Amino acid sequence: MLKKYLITPGPTAVPEQVLLDMARPMIHHRTPEFEAIFKEARQGLKKVFKTEQEPLILASSGTGAMEAAVVNTLNREDKVLVINGGKFGERWIKICQTYGIEVSTIDLEWGSSVKAEDVKAFLDKNPDTKAVFVQGSETSTTVYHPVKELAAVTKNLPETLLVVDGITSAGVHDTRFDEWGIDILITGSQKAFMLPPGLAFITLSQKAWNMAETSRLPKFYFNLKTELKNQLKNTTAWTAGVSLIIGLKTVIDMMEKEGIDNVFKRHEINAEATRQAVKALGLKLLAKDLPSNAATGCFLPENIDGKAFVKYLRDKCGISLAGGQDHLAGKILRISHLGYHDAFDTITAISAIEMGLLKFGANIELGKGVAAAQKVLMGEMPEI
Ligand SMILES: Cc1ncc(COP(=O)(O)O)c(C=O)c1O
Repeated sequence: MLKKYLITPGPTAVPEQVLLDMARPMIHHRTPEFEAIFKEARQGLKKVFKTEQEPLILASSGTGAMEAAVVNTLNREDKVLVINGGKFGERWIKICQTYGIEVSTIDLEWGSSVKAEDVKAFLDKNPDTKAVFVQGSETSTTVYHPVKELAAVTKNLPETLLVVDGITSAGVHDTRFDEWGIDILITGSQKAFMLPPGLAFITLSQKAWNMAETSRLPKFYFNLKTELKNQLKNTTAWTAGVSLIIGLKTVIDMMEKEGIDNVFKRHEINAEATRQAVKALGLKLLAKDLPSNAATGCFLPENIDGKAFVKYLRDKCGISLAGGQDHLAGKILRISHLGYHDAFDTITAISAIEMGLLKFGANIELGKGVAAAQKVLMGEMPEI
C-alpha cells in the first residue's frame, strides 16, 4: 500500500468533510436552496479578504480571473507595469499583450521580491500607467511581494490600479483589501481554499469599478458588471459551479471555526518550520528577500537530478511535491504549506525529503531537518 500525500502548491488536499458535502446529490442553481449557500459563501470570502466590496465567484481556473481583471478595466494601448519575477508574472505580460496593452516590466531575478520604491520611481516617471500587475506570492519562485507597501504607492493615484494575483497568497498571508487599498484581488479554489480546481474569486475596489465604466476591451463570459448584477441577487450570470460552491461554503465554515487570522498563522508556522528544516539540511532557500508562506523552494544538491528526486518521492513514498519550472527545472524542490496542511504534513514532507536525499547520495544526517521543524512547531504551537 502507498498512502498518498498531496503537498504541492496547488491543487492541494481537500478535507474529508468538503469531499462529502460536494458528493451530495446535485441541486439546481436557480433555487432558494443554492442561493442561500451562495450568499453565505460570498459573505465568507469578504471576511477572508477583509473587504466590504463584493467578491465575485467565477467558474474558471485562476487564469480566467486574471484575464477578467484585464478585460474589464483596461483599453487597447493602455500602459501598464508588470512585476516580472517568475512564471506567473510572465502570464500577466502574455494576457495584457493579447489585448494590445503596452507592457513595461520590472524584471527580477527569480527568487527576488520587488521593492515598493522601485515601483514608485517607475510611476513617478510614468504617471499615465493604468495598472500595476503583481503576484502576492509568485508560486514558481516561492517569493512573496510586498502587497501592503505596493498598495501604499498606488492607493492615492486615482487612475492607477494595483492588481494582485493572490492565487497563492490570499488565504495564506493576511491580505487587507480595503485597509491597504488593493484594487483587484484574485484567487483560485485549488490553493488555500482547499477545494478542487474550477472556481476563481475576484474582488474589485470602487476605483477599479470606475475604470470598468470606460473599459472597451471585448468580454462576454467574463463581463464582471453582468456578474456583479447577478451575484448581488445571490445568483450567477451563467451556470454556477454548484458542487464547488457547496464545498466552498464548508471551507468557509472551517476557516471561520479556526479563525481567519489563525489560518494565516498556521501557514506562517508551517512555512517557517519548513524553512528551518531545509536550512538544517544544508539546502539553500530560493527566496532571497521575502519568502512566501504558500510554499518553500530550495535548491537540491547539484549532483541530484531534481526530476528523478520528485518522481522517487511521488512513486516510492507517495509524497507529491513540486519541482522547478523553466531554468529551475530539475534543480529545486517546492514544498507546499497551502490549505489543508498541518504540522504533521510538514514533518512527513521533511522526513521523506531526508530519506530521499540519503537515497540519492547526499551527505546528510537523518532527522536533522525533522528536528529543526519540530522545534519551530513546538515553540509556536504550545498545544502540541
Ligand atoms: C500565482 C499563480 N498565478 C496564477 C496561477 C494560474 O492559476 P490557474 O492554473 O488556476 O489558472 C497559478 C497556478 O498555480 C499561480 O500559482
